[in-house]
Amino acid sequence: MGIEEREFLEELVVDRTYIRVNTLKVSLSRFLKNTELELSKTGYKYGYRVEGDVKIGKTMEYFLGYLHTQSLSSMMPVLAFSSWKDNIEVLDAAASPGGKTSQIAQHTSNKAAITAIDKRTGRISLLVSNLERLGVVSVNVVRRDSRKLPWKNTFNKVLVDAPCSSLGSSLFALRKTTHRRVRDMARVQRKMLLSAFDALKEGGELVYSTCTITEEENEAVVANLLENRSNATIERVKLPIRHSKGLESYEFSDKVARIYPWEVESEAFFVARIKKS
Ligand SMILES: C[S@@+](CC[C@H](N)C(=O)[O-])C[C@H]1O[C@@H](n2cnc3c(N)ncnc32)[C@H](O)[C@@H]1O
Repeated sequence: MGIEEREFLEELVVDRTYIRVNTLKVSLSRFLKNTELELSKTGYKYGYRVEGDVKIGKTMEYFLGYLHTQSLSSMMPVLAFSSWKDNIEVLDAAASPGGKTSQIAQHTSNKAAITAIDKRTGRISLLVSNLERLGVVSVNVVRRDSRKLPWKNTFNKVLVDAPCSSLGSSLFALRKTTHRRVRDMARVQRKMLLSAFDALKEGGELVYSTCTITEEENEAVVANLLENRSNATIERVKLPIRHSKGLESYEFSDKVARIYPWEVESEAFFVARIKKS
């Protein structure tokens, strides 16, 4: 990657702290009444920006599970689903550290049966400790490779928040990213999305997301699914924060969402919603 490309990407990374208030443990009104954190509203009811230099992970509210630190953009994929109902089966195909798994549990009041998968053992313990802290009780945690899932036509909703190059999200990731790494990531993402789509029930919906800006890991992965699965259709994503369309060379560009750091003061994200007919 050239110096100019790197400098541009470094400029994208925004250093802001956001929390999601976890209503599985505390009501929103009680939390807001009692917290000493200085918070600003966002477009999402439970998402707040934290002002000042606070170590959230050391606060009592964090230990009590009243909140989870999560970027504003990363709260969006769960909101991209058309609705959340109790008593449904949900697959989270790349779940650790559990930000979105616990958000799904929150939106379904712990009443959906969630299968949360991650491939790496170390990440599984992180996932389990976060779910425990946040009072999530409806999750079956499984260590496996989501490129080869055993389920067919099983889940009502599937989330693929894929591992990615994190360009536009993390300075650390930027330092180790090469074009080759992006290509390798895209290969994993294509396989994960195909396998996760096969696990989705007919009539169900899947959200694919990444925290990166590359075409290879975003629109191209979705296009690959459409080429290989004739029963996949793209549905328009609606989000409560500012976002842009996808890259124009794709016919579904106005249906997917690109969240850019300069529009929302949070990390870059890509979100697509796919239906199985
Ligand atoms: C972007 S993170 C997920 C973040 C998570 N959804 C959240 O909101 O907290 C991607 C995760 O995918 C996992 N992963 C990478 N390759 C995988 C694979 N082949 N199968 C399942 N999980 C995988 C990584 O260990 C990592 O924890």
